[in-house]
Amino acid sequence: MARYNFDLTGKVAFVNGASRGIGAAVAEGLAARGAHVICASRKLEGCAAVAKSITESGDSAEAMACHAGHMDQIEAAIQHVRDTHGRLDILINNAATNPFFGPSADTPEGAFDKTIDVNLKGPFFLCAQAIPLMKDGGGGAIVNVASINAVEPGHFQAVYSMTKAALVNMTKAMAKEYARDKIRVNALLPGFTDTKMTAVFKANEDSLNTLLDENVPMNRMAQPDEMVGAVLYLVSDEASYTTGAQIIVDGGYLL
Ligand SMILES: NC(=O)c1ccc[n+]([C@@H]2O[C@H](COP(=O)([O-])OP(=O)(O)OC[C@H]3O[C@@H](n4cnc5c(N)ncnc54)[C@H](OP(=O)(O)O)[C@@H]3O)[C@@H](O)[C@H]2O)c1
Repeated sequence: MARYNFDLTGKVAFVNGASRGIGAAVAEGLAARGAHVICASRKLEGCAAVAKSITESGDSAEAMACHAGHMDQIEAAIQHVRDTHGRLDILINNAATNPFFGPSADTPEGAFDKTIDVNLKGPFFLCAQAIPLMKDGGGGAIVNVASINAVEPGHFQAVYSMTKAALVNMTKAMAKEYARDKIRVNALLPGFTDTKMTAVFKANEDSLNTLLDENVPMNRMAQPDEMVGAVLYLVSDEASYTTGAQIIVDGGYLL
């Protein structure tokens, strides 16, 4: 087999938050390199549409509902992967939420709990469920989708930023713990990307242009598919000596 081609033939991948945005682009990218991709998120319909588009282009995918804040759904999802495929090679923890923009002191407790549950507790326990299955298969690769806000907290986004910083630390902790089981754990830190999550910024074109001009050397948002190459690297054998790393894809924002 040719080397350095990011080949994922025969691999089984689970992408949470695959119904749109970055997760959908990553699911398509993994499938295009040969993986069978399980597209998951809260709402089955969105995932079914992504899986359909993947299979219509000749690649392999299926859809499943998995709420990242519900332990029973996390356990059931990974059990389904075990029962159906007998292995899991790739886990992408991409699902996240950001329900409250505002001063820290005004954060409603419900928004705090939801952000922690979906952005941190869910990824932690998806890893916890996935790791034994990966071990049984001889190893695996996990990518946790964090954010530039893990490094520089976003204005009025304290809890979201806290979860992303913790996700990076979780990545390092698990990378150390499971390296000898041949499980690599890495993080992607996207910058400002054109998805539903950032739609609020696009509502006002003038303020968006100022924001980009003042903060992003490339002076534009990323498109979701610009995140895919870094993920393909991290989950492929080309990254066989890469674990605990953070790949920042931000158009220069953090410079
Ligand atoms: N866009 C950016 O500028 C940016 C920057 C840095 C980091 N990120 C990170 O990139 C990742 C993807 O974000 P995006 O920009 O692509 O956002 P998006 O378009 O809003 O997509 C979010 C995805 O997460 C899923 N999701 C939301 N809540 C969920 C839950 N409780 N359980 C399971 N799935 C859930 C959504 O599907 P359902 O609604 O069907 O559940 C959707 O598939 C996130 O981790 C985000 O924090 C984004």
